[in-house]
Amino acid sequence: MDNVSILVMNGPNLSRLGKREPEIYGTRTLEDINREIADAFHGISFEFFQSEEEGELLEKLFHCEDNGAANGVVLNAGALTHYSIALRDAISAVGIPVVEVHLSNIYAREEFRRTSVISEVCAGVVSGFGPNSYQLGVRGLLGILGQA
Ligand code: DQA
Repeated sequence: MDNVSILVMNGPNLSRLGKREPEIYGTRTLEDINREIADAFHGISFEFFQSEEEGELLEKLFHCEDNGAANGVVLNAGALTHYSIALRDAISAVGIPVVEVHLSNIYAREEFRRTSVISEVCAGVVSGFGPNSYQLGVRGLLGILGQA
C-alpha cells in the first residue's frame, strides 16, 4: 500500500486538553499531540479531526470509507466510548480498521469508564500511556495495514 493515510479523530472535550484536568490528562494540548504524531511518522499522511458532536464523528467515518480518505483511524472517542451505540455501529459499518485510544487507563478509573461499547468492533485498544497512546495506536494500525 503506497501513500498510507491515517485519520486521527478525537471526540468530545478533547479540544480542552492542556487545561482540562491536567492531573489526569497531562498538560499537552491536542495541537501539541497531533504535531508530535506527524513528526514521529514520516511518509504517512495524517488528517486530524476533533468534534464535540457525535454525529460529526459518524459522518467523518462514513466520508473516510466513501472517499477512500483514510486507510485507518486512530480514535479517542472520549466519553462516547462508554455509551455511544451509534458510534459503535458506525465503526462496525465501515470497512476500515479503527484503533481505540485513551490517554488515561480507563480500567483504573471510575466504574462507568471501565466499559467501552466500541472496543469489540475496534481493531485494538491502547489505554493509559498519556499522549503516547496515540503514537502506539498509530504503530499498531500500521502493523494492521501491513506497513510495519
Ligand atoms: C478518555 C477517557 C474517557 O473516559 C473520558 O471521557 C475522556 C478521555 C481518555 O483519553 O482517557 O474524555 O477517552
